[in-house]
Amino acid sequence: EHQAEETDVLKRIARVEVMQHLPESEKEALAALLNPTYAQPGDILCREGDPGDYFYMIVSGEAEVRKGRSVLTTLGEGEIFGEMSLLTGEPRSATVVARTPMKLYQLNQENFGRVLTRSPHLAWALSRTLARRLRISNES
Ligand code: CMP
Repeated sequence: EHQAEETDVLKRIARVEVMQHLPESEKEALAALLNPTYAQPGDILCREGDPGDYFYMIVSGEAEVRKGRSVLTTLGEGEIFGEMSLLTGEPRSATVVARTPMKLYQLNQENFGRVLTRSPHLAWALSRTLARRLRISNES
């Protein structure tokens, strides 16, 4: 049963953009550290100004990223959030609210740090995501 669960997690993380090019061994190591979590519409997953605790991958559903009163973007299946405060140690930069029922995988700060130092592929993919987000926010 445990094995079936692991296979399921591996299949799902293969659809997460930052995980797509990870070597199989790195995916397996990561899968063992992920915890599934669920949200309902309106649930706040990150609150702007709070200390960062978890990194999230969206398995299904959609979330809105809000800063002050404006909506920055919508994130959906295969996207990630919560990485910024974990990388810098600064408070959450925005609020992330579920728009639909969601399934997510979460990784605590300690494991996030460990996985990143051990996986150059993941560090690279995450840098790419951050650069894209910065670029888009510079354009608006
Ligand atoms: P963090 O600052 O830890 O918590 C809020 C999260 O919202 C942040 O990490 C990012 O994952 C996400 N976020 C903030 N700004 C943007 C943006 N411009 N585009 C996409 N996601 C963002």
